[in-house]
Amino acid sequence: MSTVVELKDVHKRFGSNAVLKGVSFSIAKGQVTAIIGRSGSGKSTALRCMDRLEVIDSGSINVCGHALHDPQIDLRVLRQDVGIVFQSYNLFPHLTVEENIMLAPTVVKKMRRADAHAIAMRTLTQVGLADKAKSYPEQLSGGQQQRVAIARSLAMEPKVMLFDEVTSALDPQLTGEVLRVIEKLAADGMTMVLVTHEMEFASKVADTIIFMHEGRVWETGTGDMLRHPQTEELQAFLAGGL
Ligand SMILES: Nc1ncnc2c1ncn2[C@@H]1O[C@H](COP(=O)(O)OP(=O)(O)O)[C@@H](O)[C@H]1O
Ligand SMILES: [Mg+2]
Repeated sequence: MSTVVELKDVHKRFGSNAVLKGVSFSIAKGQVTAIIGRSGSGKSTALRCMDRLEVIDSGSINVCGHALHDPQIDLRVLRQDVGIVFQSYNLFPHLTVEENIMLAPTVVKKMRRADAHAIAMRTLTQVGLADKAKSYPEQLSGGQQQRVAIARSLAMEPKVMLFDEVTSALDPQLTGEVLRVIEKLAADGMTMVLVTHEMEFASKVADTIIFMHEGRVWETGTGDMLRHPQTEELQAFLAGGL
């Protein structure tokens, strides 16, 4: 199996705050990895390092054949291979849904508008929102806006998708519709990393679960790990004590 993401002994600090203290893991093509852990454990930082939104202090990260620790890296090429979706959707309010999605393909990839539009319609269909192409973001629910944000990311045809707590701002019903989109992507073979609080979802969809604690990979396993945590820290986290 080919490796799509590989972190080796990654260290990252913000000033005196050591946030990643030697993080290593790898993800094979088509695999879904969930990262869980208490707030402040370094999950978002680890994810952001995978798209080089943060630059690491030491260690190495390879994503889709790009060496992210290489100062000469071509970020434009990297970011065509890596899609990242955040808790906040950040859609442009003055653009329609389809225009939001067409923006990066036309500007970054210099795609013809007709081709970009075809991709927008395809990715909107993937997230179940083809009928909202002409709507403006404010006319959509939070869950629908998040699905548009996912479609926008998919329109760049990434090789790996990173999701950082994409349902945290949504109520349970809207959370469900976003999780179903992610589940479908998983079934279609997309390589994904999900930072999530949705434990049930993580154990169902993820091939591997990584529990981060204080900047380290504390425990790794399959969904079963959540029923049989080995470390006290994971037990406490799952009990809701942290
Ligand atoms: N850009 C930044 N500048 C300074 N400190 C940061 C920055 N990003 C994150 N941190 C700090 O890094 C630690 C880990 O944060 P984060 O990776 O967001 O954790 P998590 O996503 O697990 O909640 C926190 O102490 C946070 O305050
Ligand atoms: Mg976070």
